[in-house]
Amino acid sequence: MEKSKEKSKLIFSGVQPTGNLHLGNYLGAIKNWVKLQTNAHCIFCIVDLHAITTSGNRSEILQNTREVAAAYIASGIDPSKNTIFVQSNVTGHSELSWILGCHTPIGWLNRMTQFKDKAGKNKEKAPLGLYSYPVLMAADILLYKSTHVPVGEDQKQHLELSRDIAQAFNRCYNNDFFPVPEPVIIGNATRVMSLKDGLKKMSKSDPSDYSRINLTDSSESIKKKIQKAKTDSEPFPSDVEKLENRPEITNLINIYSALTENLLEDIISEYANKDFRVFKQNLADIVDQQISKISIEMKKLLADKTYLDLILKDGYQKAKEISEKNINDLKNIIGLFRA
Ligand code: TYM
Repeated sequence: MEKSKEKSKLIFSGVQPTGNLHLGNYLGAIKNWVKLQTNAHCIFCIVDLHAITTSGNRSEILQNTREVAAAYIASGIDPSKNTIFVQSNVTGHSELSWILGCHTPIGWLNRMTQFKDKAGKNKEKAPLGLYSYPVLMAADILLYKSTHVPVGEDQKQHLELSRDIAQAFNRCYNNDFFPVPEPVIIGNATRVMSLKDGLKKMSKSDPSDYSRINLTDSSESIKKKIQKAKTDSEPFPSDVEKLENRPEITNLINIYSALTENLLEDIISEYANKDFRVFKQNLADIVDQQISKISIEMKKLLADKTYLDLILKDGYQKAKEISEKNINDLKNIIGLFRA
């Protein structure tokens, strides 16, 4: 760990290799990680075991795994200063998930809204892995004794559960082994909405490609998607209060703000009284400039699998070392027999 980095702070986060990485993943998570890496030790995981909790795109998991690694690096994560690795490589994740599952009341899991959304009406047929998804997520975080977890808003409930599980474990063994991890939900785009419906989250699984900007989209398609993004019939708002009940406009302005780091007030005063098309045109250029850069870099990285795989191998070694030590300590705390 670098001397300049705060020793006590350990940042952990992850993305599922389920394909269609989008602007929401970038603004809600990865863009913030790039900033955080300067003053803390960071572990960025590609959570492939989470990706197999749903049936979509499993055959592409290997390609998607490299794609997420490429997205991290192309967005500005420095692999020589941080740890980038694949979850299933480090067996401690599954092992700790079991242990933590033994300290998690079912009632806590029954409250998880993401499970309810994903399982839908067919709850009885949903896989156990989808139900225990948040326990594996707690294991990811706690395995490294992480202190801070930067994520988008949709992961808030899962993080609260991770905190509860950490405290339940500590209480059970009268110990303070696990730090209670802090959620880091920052910026103006903690919940990026669909470009077709301002009340729905931008998501990898939305059947309409026009609902999201993919990190692999071409310049042409980015511009087309922004031009076609849903708006309403009202003129551009004249102040922040007027954003109320205008979810599509709010979403576009939030995206603009997150990418330029300009305040909402400043954006609104710049575009008030102007034709909406001017705002959309400029937004399209801004999204294009930032996302195309990432997309081009991702393509370059994906063309060099040997390099990507070496980074993931190096990350695996670093993650394994921390994880083995912590699992060892945990087993001693629980009092398990050691052969
Ligand atoms: P995933 O792959 O679904 O999402 C990865 C990250 O992207 C954020 N995100 C969004 N942010 C803003 N607007 C959106 N529309 C949007 N959609 C997604 C998510 O909040 C997330 O930060 N469960 C995690 C993966 C995970 C994890 C972990 C994260 C597994 N173990 C441990 C942190 C720590 C997830 O949502 O992946």
